[in-house]
Amino acid sequence: MRHKLNWGTVTAFAAIALVSGGVGVLAQPDKESIITQRREAMKALGKSLGAIKGYVDGKNDLAQAQEGAGKIAQTAPKIADLFPSGTSMTDFPGKKTGAKPAIWSEHDKFLAAQKQLVSESQKLVEVVKSGDKAQIAEQFANVGKNGCGNCHNTFREKLD
Ligand code: HEC
Repeated sequence: MRHKLNWGTVTAFAAIALVSGGVGVLAQPDKESIITQRREAMKALGKSLGAIKGYVDGKNDLAQAQEGAGKIAQTAPKIADLFPSGTSMTDFPGKKTGAKPAIWSEHDKFLAAQKQLVSESQKLVEVVKSGDKAQIAEQFANVGKNGCGNCHNTFREKLD
């Protein structure tokens, strides 16, 4: 007799695995790969922010600035997912990551810092539409200071 796959059962099993497993049980190689992934994501944020600066400085066109702003706004809400527990610089010593343990011990504050980038980057998307360099320069600075810098000050150790 042919076995019929029952999706209801499969889904229920997956849900149980998730509940009993939780985020904390990632295997070591998975943790390493998410560290790599988040560092790449952060570098990409830096590049996107640079695209805005490039427009303000007359080196980029407006479309590049708009693309950069859009990417930051897209990435910002996903940042917390890139920091599962057990991936701090204490868990992975030797300059593999600059993620301070405070990310997990002061998680509410970390999430608040993420939210701040979400709102500042949404404002950036709006302001960039105008093409007005003075306004864009101002919001670019706000994103850097209140979005990126605010989180880095508390939660990131520079690696080089
Ligand atoms: C909510 C916290 C948070 C926000 C917001 C944030 N970062 Fe980060 N960033 C971190 C942490 C933590 C690290 C260290 C990650 C690691 O080493 O695993 C980091 C690392 C970096 C790095 C170094 C990457 C590397 O490994 O070489 C760059 C560049 C960077 N961030 C750019 C940005 C920019 C640009 C923004 C704003 C558009 C931003 N970040 C917003 C927390 C944040």
